[in-house]
Amino acid sequence: MSKDSLTITDNRTGKTYEVPVQDGTIKAMDLRQIKVAAEDFGLMTYDPGFMNTASCKSRITFIDGDKGILNYRGYPIEQLAEQGNYLETAYLLLKGELPTKSQYEAWAEKVTTHTFVHENVKELMVGFRYDAHPMGMIASMTAALSTFYPTSKHVRDAAERERHINRLIAKIPTLAAFAYRHSMGLPYVYPDNELSYAANFLQMMFKTSELKYKVHPALERALDVLFVLHADHEQNCSTSAMRQIGSSEADPYCAAAGAIGALYGPLHGGANEAVLRMLQEIGSRDKVAGFVKEVKESGGDVRLMGFGHRVYKNYDPRAKIIKKMADQVFEVTGRNPLLDIALELERIALEDEYFVKRRLYPNVDFYSGLIYQAMKFPTELFAVLFAIPRMSGWLAQWQEMIEDKEQRISRPRQVYLGESRREYVPLHRRV
Ligand code: ACO
Repeated sequence: MSKDSLTITDNRTGKTYEVPVQDGTIKAMDLRQIKVAAEDFGLMTYDPGFMNTASCKSRITFIDGDKGILNYRGYPIEQLAEQGNYLETAYLLLKGELPTKSQYEAWAEKVTTHTFVHENVKELMVGFRYDAHPMGMIASMTAALSTFYPTSKHVRDAAERERHINRLIAKIPTLAAFAYRHSMGLPYVYPDNELSYAANFLQMMFKTSELKYKVHPALERALDVLFVLHADHEQNCSTSAMRQIGSSEADPYCAAAGAIGALYGPLHGGANEAVLRMLQEIGSRDKVAGFVKEVKESGGDVRLMGFGHRVYKNYDPRAKIIKKMADQVFEVTGRNPLLDIALELERIALEDEYFVKRRLYPNVDFYSGLIYQAMKFPTELFAVLFAIPRMSGWLAQWQEMIEDKEQRISRPRQVYLGESRREYVPLHRRV
């Protein structure tokens, strides 16, 4: 008997099975042989929310939630955030290696030349109400791009894939800025291809009548670091949506639109907005202790937003970097008065037995909203600011899925608990 195996005894039949263990997993399909009778379907696993099921093998992002470690392609997030930039991080996620200088220049050039959108996209944008949520707008616009690039459906063609990956990464800031300008009733600002990825986005957002919008280098850098931190996070809800839709060989625009939809939910990309609202509701530093008491006494109904994580049971490494960066941003924008409330909340929570026992630490969203707000981004745009950099992670994961020979169309099983067969009764005989 192999040491790398699991022996299972089915107490219903007394039969014993040996199942191979590889990379700390067993194959769910190896359980199918376990039956009570020959005509049985075979044993399945039941795992709502995929709490303990690996849906793929991946070489992109590694997380150790107990130790608070996050690496992209083996590189620690701290090093990428401090020494790298978003575009080289996107290249790394997609290609597996950091670019050389010439590879980087060619990549930045490719992204830059794809930033413009077809003029008809503007016509589509006009159809939205003035108060349309920007996440709904960018999800729709991303899906609409599929109709402008019909060859994107050739997902098995590597050259086609690359073309549309470049386009999606290049155009998502343009769509995001157009959505914002639409809601403000402001004219659209076209991309300025002389600027960096982050600076170009800032000028498309905030340029008014000046000939050349001057982006403050500290704010450009801060946004770029936030983009690095949000670029990928392995098999989270939106990435799984991207892979799932992509598994039917839908084009990447439609798959990315679905991923944006998944990110939109308040349990995923919407948490930073909730943190900001919570800090505003608390209102002042002296009310923090009372709020923490309320959280503890609520039995889980009131949550400290921006605290806790399904995977991290330690300080989220991204939150540490963001907290450090906040001071640099506030030097330019002026201190966000909500920061004092946030710091006091963190201080009290990290000393409180309730939070210590449950291993609840600040996550990525605890401080990011304060920075976005100080940079004058409206709260509704926070999830969009998450979607822009996550596009590279979604696409890297999508490409890995397409190239993975073990992948199939994603199609979970169910445990059927409904009625067994029954006969149809005509309407006039039903009582
Ligand atoms: N405030 C207070 N108590 C909390 C919090 C919180 N933020 N998070 C978890 N708990 C408590 C729960 O009430 C539970 O207590 P119990 O054992 O007495 O019942 C215990 O800690 C475990 O919580 P679960 O809900 O089982 O943890 P889970 O892993 O399912 O949830 C989640 C993780 C959703 C992130 C949760 O911590 C939460 O709701 N946090 C606030 C929202 C938030 O910040 N989300 C952003 C996550 S980062 C991202 O998605 C980008």
